[in-house]
Amino acid sequence: MSDDLKRQAAERAVEDVTSGMKIGIGTGSTAEHFVRALGQKVRDGLDVVGVPTSEKTHALALKEGISLATLDEIPHLDLTIDGADEINPDLVLIKGGGGALLREKIVAAASGEMIVIADGTKVVEALGQFPLPIEVNKFGLGATMIALKSVLDQNDLQGELELRGGADHPFVTDGGHYIVDAHLGKIPYPATLADDLNAIPGVVEHGLFIGLATKAYIAAADGVKTLTKVSGEN
Ligand code: A5P
Repeated sequence: MSDDLKRQAAERAVEDVTSGMKIGIGTGSTAEHFVRALGQKVRDGLDVVGVPTSEKTHALALKEGISLATLDEIPHLDLTIDGADEINPDLVLIKGGGGALLREKIVAAASGEMIVIADGTKVVEALGQFPLPIEVNKFGLGATMIALKSVLDQNDLQGELELRGGADHPFVTDGGHYIVDAHLGKIPYPATLADDLNAIPGVVEHGLFIGLATKAYIAAADGVKTLTKVSGEN
């Protein structure tokens, strides 16, 4: 059911892609539906160039026959389409459940527009039920953990910090970094937390996407709805 809804959101988003566009292509199970739908459109004659946000998406997009380029070759994109782990009413997102947050954020920030595709379970009033992924440099992991903990304290947030994959087999991102998942429960002030995380030298990037998404297609049993920001902020 959820997979079918993800597909419906992806198929809605592909309708917004027109010939000549340069497209950022997201990562995750919802984005995979988008890649397949885009592949079909390309085989039907749509002329686009895609920049994938992960090695996994790159492989699938190639298989689908989508023309690909790097962000170095095309540094400005028209539109990025990507999934999310959580979406709040201001279209602030948590991303990185699949570990691709760094490239996803770089690509989204280089795009004129970012459309999020998701099933209805991803829409929340307050972010934080989903653990916040924080990409960290391998060097100085212990010191970075201590700095992360003090940022949480500073923000009155309690919660566990967990190295993804565990100490024996840590998950390694496409960029060669680790991910620390912060189990916070609630993130009342995402922008403040984002600034504080960005100030830690060992933090490469975090999964709070603020001011990047321009709209979201949310699929539920009663159809695909378009979500736009409730406030003009972010
Ligand atoms: C990948 O790193 C993530 O940001 C995904 O976009 C996010 O986890 C959503 O994934 P699903 O579409 O698989 O739920």
